[in-house]
Amino acid sequence: SSNMTKCEAMGASTYMEASEAVDLNWEDIGFGLVPTDYMYIMKSSPDGTFAKGELQHFGPIDLNPASGVLNYGQGLFEGLKAYRKEDGSILLFRPEENALRMRMGAERLCMPAPTVQQFVDAVKLTVLANKRWVPPTGKGSLYIRPLLMGSGAVLGLAPAPEYTFLIFVSPVGNYFKEGLAPINLIVENEFHRATPGGTGGIKTIGNYASVLKAQKIAKGKGFSDVLYLDSVNNKYLEEVSSCNVFIVKDKIISTPEIKGTILPGITRKSIIDVARDQGYQVEERLVSLEELLDADEVFCTGTAVVVSPVGSVTYRGNRVDYGNRGVGAVSQQLYSALTSLQMGLSDDKMGWTVQL
Ligand code: COI
Repeated sequence: SSNMTKCEAMGASTYMEASEAVDLNWEDIGFGLVPTDYMYIMKSSPDGTFAKGELQHFGPIDLNPASGVLNYGQGLFEGLKAYRKEDGSILLFRPEENALRMRMGAERLCMPAPTVQQFVDAVKLTVLANKRWVPPTGKGSLYIRPLLMGSGAVLGLAPAPEYTFLIFVSPVGNYFKEGLAPINLIVENEFHRATPGGTGGIKTIGNYASVLKAQKIAKGKGFSDVLYLDSVNNKYLEEVSSCNVFIVKDKIISTPEIKGTILPGITRKSIIDVARDQGYQVEERLVSLEELLDADEVFCTGTAVVVSPVGSVTYRGNRVDYGNRGVGAVSQQLYSALTSLQMGLSDDKMGWTVQL
């Protein structure tokens, strides 16, 4: 087409990069799908390994109706972001961590997975092919969504005979409609997200379908999202449907420990390190509902939500407000520290960013 002005050869793929500026209002993109130019697809070989993938124009894919992912939920996803630096170049944030987490989930769901190198190379290729969709500095980021699925046909319950690794991207702004303003959470009293021995600790697609009902009810009542309690004692915090949770009490930061039922967030892990680096004491442990209701500050972390301050928590009809519903000082400090690293505005002494 006419906007394909540049031909680039990268690795094994040749593609025509569109160079025209995109017609998007960067001021209010929110978190919804904006179709971009290219997606990356790599299918497993009969021996179960991944060999060679390619960029294709973004669009629908062929999928066997009997595929493992459609019938038995054999699927994982990841989420990471690319930010545009002030000099126009692009930074990825800890992509190897997503690759490793996908490999861990794939092991649990009996799927082969791309190597860390294949994953990171594919992410780089996909971002570069879509680089006109990376928002200007401070206007958001390019959300990168890798998928791994059983695409081969099965009928009886078994691992699929073929797998597809796919990456698509979309420019995004704030996840919650509140923007950077504090969100209001409801503590879920009926449903649970995960059980010991289950799949709560991996990024399987099923974990996200199973929280839709509680989310829908909560949104109907005006809440932003749902906070889950552990399914054994109904007493300890687990996570929010789309992010991890932290509490702050007397300057000590605490977050539920990773024990198989909560998603090991990369933003969670990064915030723990950033907070410690800034001199905070951070504890990973069981955090009870009473502690939540008695906290000075509460915030959520995730790739999509970044650091989202919590303005109130409602449990069995009783609402607790934090910090006059303004952004807490610790949440604000950690948000600024993390995002300035991700945007290349501060010195990356942890070596977390990957420059494209
Ligand atoms: C992310 O934060 O990247 C996630 O995968 C959460 C999703 C519900 C948007």
